[in-house]
Amino acid sequence: MNHSQPLCRLADIPDGDAIAVQVASATGGFELIVLRRGERAFAYHNECPHAGRNLDYAPGRFLVRDGRLTCAAHGATFAVESGACLGGPCRSGLVALRVDVVDGAVWLP
Ligand code: FES
Repeated sequence: MNHSQPLCRLADIPDGDAIAVQVASATGGFELIVLRRGERAFAYHNECPHAGRNLDYAPGRFLVRDGRLTCAAHGATFAVESGACLGGPCRSGLVALRVDVVDGAVWLP
């Protein structure tokens, strides 16, 4: 994992929405969903616990509304601020990664 670069600028994420961010790693990397609510950011692996699909409906585009993120594949719904399963076919929540917002940038600690 590269700790010398932020994941993104907070301003890169429209407030109340989400973007996809690729993270490099020794095993080939992975994709995160990075969501914004005001001055806070939340990050989850872009892998739905229902059937393992990505949650976006088009690359980097997510269904986010009223603090809920909906998987585009079969409609599982998750809380933006915790990743908890709120409805639909999921039985568990999203895998969260802690992120910090420092000087307008979103970082993995
Ligand atoms: S893979 Fe997300 S709801 Fe089925």
